[in-house]
Amino acid sequence: MSEVVAIYPGSFDPLTNGHVDIIHRGSRFFDRIVVSVLVNVEKAPLFTAPERVAIAREVFSGWANVEVDTFDGLLVEYAQSKHASVIVRGLRAVSDFEYEMQMALMNRRLSPDVETIFMMPAETYSYVSSRLVKEVVALGGSVHGLVPEIVERRLREKKLARETLRA
Ligand SMILES: Nc1ncnc2c1ncn2[C@@H]1O[C@H](COP(=O)(O)OP(=O)(O)OP(=O)(O)O)[C@@H](O)[C@H]1O
Ligand SMILES: [Mg+2]
Repeated sequence: MSEVVAIYPGSFDPLTNGHVDIIHRGSRFFDRIVVSVLVNVEKAPLFTAPERVAIAREVFSGWANVEVDTFDGLLVEYAQSKHASVIVRGLRAVSDFEYEMQMALMNRRLSPDVETIFMMPAETYSYVSSRLVKEVVALGGSVHGLVPEIVERRLREKKLARETLRA
């Protein structure tokens, strides 16, 4: 039997413990899971694509079947290029559902062989989004426990750099 490869696409700007939770669940199910960092995020990202990749590589360095990569363009074409038969997505709440269903059905239409599989995170992370994490940090709040420690550090460094620029 050939191995089952899954891709987990997202902007990961930044990676949160919600993402890590989904990757952990996926790594138990699939032979390999590729964390695929979207290069061209619509709005200006806080972290550049190379920074987002470096963070994820550090976080998952000890995880044997987790790989970190970047992608751009049509997701199903990228999936084919990685020989992935599964797209993993996370569902936090009903609010995620409508957009995710549209994407899953459009991707199925574009490539019927690729299956989208949804997973729910631990309740503790069900309200965590990258956007909210950035907002809290920008306003001086703590996101301890909601993001990996390296992300917490990088967020602090970014905030200091931005404040210095502005001063
Ligand atoms: N806390 C979480 N628990 C489970 N799934 C999540 C969580 N955060 C994001 N996801 C899922 O991970 C995938 C990639 O998410 P993405 O990189 O857009 O993160 P995000 O937190 O939604 O970012 P943003 O706030 O910028 O939209 C999506 O399927 C998203 O639903
Ligand atoms: Mg999102």
